[in-house]
This record gives sequence, C-alpha cells and structure tokens, in this order.
Amino acid sequence: MKAVLGIIGGSGVYDLPGLEDLREERITSPWGEPSDALRFGRIGPTEVVFLPRHGRGHRLAPGDIDYRANIDALKRAGVTDLVSISACGSYRESLPPGRFVLVDQFVDRTTRRESSFFGAGCVAHVSMAHPVGPRLQERIAAAAHAEGIEVHRGGTYVCMEGPQFSSRAESLSYRAAGYDVIGMTNMPEAKLAREAEITYATIAMVTDYDCWHPDHEAVEVSDVIAVVKANAGKAARLVARLARDFPAEHEPCPVKSDRALEHAIMTSPDA
Ligand code: ADE
Repeated sequence: MKAVLGIIGGSGVYDLPGLEDLREERITSPWGEPSDALRFGRIGPTEVVFLPRHGRGHRLAPGDIDYRANIDALKRAGVTDLVSISACGSYRESLPPGRFVLVDQFVDRTTRRESSFFGAGCVAHVSMAHPVGPRLQERIAAAAHAEGIEVHRGGTYVCMEGPQFSSRAESLSYRAAGYDVIGMTNMPEAKLAREAEITYATIAMVTDYDCWHPDHEAVEVSDVIAVVKANAGKAARLVARLARDFPAEHEPCPVKSDRALEHAIMTSPDA
C-alpha cells in the first residue's frame, strides 16, 4: 500500500509550509463537515495531506470539531499515517513550554463528542491498548534528531472536554494521577483513526504548565499562541524531514493499527 502522510495542525498551526504542487480540495463526508478543505501536496517524494483541525482562522472549538468527518475525509484522501500536532499543557517540570512530547498513551475525559464510526447495525470494538503507532513515532523521533530538535519520547496525554481550562484542583489531580500533558483534541481523534485503520501519532507541543505549578499562574490563550508561534517553524522543519525520509510503501504497524478491524467486528454478516 502506498504511504500517504496526513498532518493535522492544531492551535496556531493552520498551514504547512513547504508543500509542493499544492492543491486544495473540499472533501464531503457523510459524517459531517470536515474542519476545512484538505491541502494536498508533496514534500520530497512523499504525498502529504494537511488539515487544520480548528479550521483556518480558528473557527471551531475543540468540542465543535467534527472528528468523524475529519478522519473520514483523510481516509478518503488515502492517508495511511497521521501525525497530529497539538498544543498542550504540561504536568512535569521537566517538560517546559516549547518542548515536543511524543506521547504514547491517551486518557479520554471528553463528554460530548461522537467517538465511533460504529454503532447500531454494525458493532465493533477496536483495541486502544497501544493507540500510537510505534514505528511512526520512531520516524518522528529520528526526524527530530536529524533536525537537532529536542523531543521527549513517551507520556500520557489526558484529553479534557474544555473549552474552559482546568481548575487548580483538576490540574493537581491529573498530575497526581501520573498524566504528563493535557489537551482538548486528541480524543476521539486517535480512536477514530484506529477505527479507520490509520496509524496515528502525536507531536504534543508544550505551551504552558497548566495551573498546578506554584510559579505559574493561570493559562492564558495569549501565552499559548506566543509559544506556538515561537515553535511553529520547528514543527514545520520536523514534519518536512519526516516527509522527506518517509518510505514510499506504508510499513505494517507493529500494533496492527492498520488492520485494527480484522478482529474487532462483533456483528455477524449472516444475521
Ligand atoms: N492546550 C494548551 N494548553 C492547554 C492546557 N493547559 N489545558 C488544556 N489544553 C491545552
């Protein structure tokens, strides 16, 4: 299967510099309205498809994004491997603003989002034991290394509903629970990618210490945007290197993200 690299840009990342032979296409999906037109292009030998998660101009709040439409549109575009770039708050002193964290686990604390393509009529239970494709993550880490960009490998991303930031008590409890970073968007995105048999990985860009840290007051959007702006170039370099070095053929995923439905469907086709 030919590899197609999908990139979802989060807060402050509404474009992907370096896309050659750029064309835009609005893909329609029976699931709803994708956040924006998809941008198709090439970086080196690799076909790349970019989607700004919140739409250009940041029109969509995390709870208003149609995650199913986004993942469906990317699947229809042929995406085999999907990298999410996502701003996040940090629960670790050792993960300061500006650091990229290659998380490998998610905790879903969202409450009002459509989180499955399956349901009445066709029931499926995919495994989310290992939500991130390890080989894709390895490639991101190698690209970062080649570009001299510091990344932290591993960590747990707790996804809150938002759009408000956490209270101090919530922040302290997430930190005590052992979570490393917090954001508002990677769930149900990662679940839906798995159901769509797309290999998924996140580059979580730390923008703040949330509000647990004694030396840091409440999170403010202006601070988040300032950190994203300061680090967007680094993220673009990382993605460009990842794309340039990407294999032409999709590599089988060790945790079977690309064949997640093989043993997941409960509904009998004969019933
Ligand atoms: N995105 C960036 N910083 C965040 C925070 N502290 N909490 C939730 N989402 C975020």
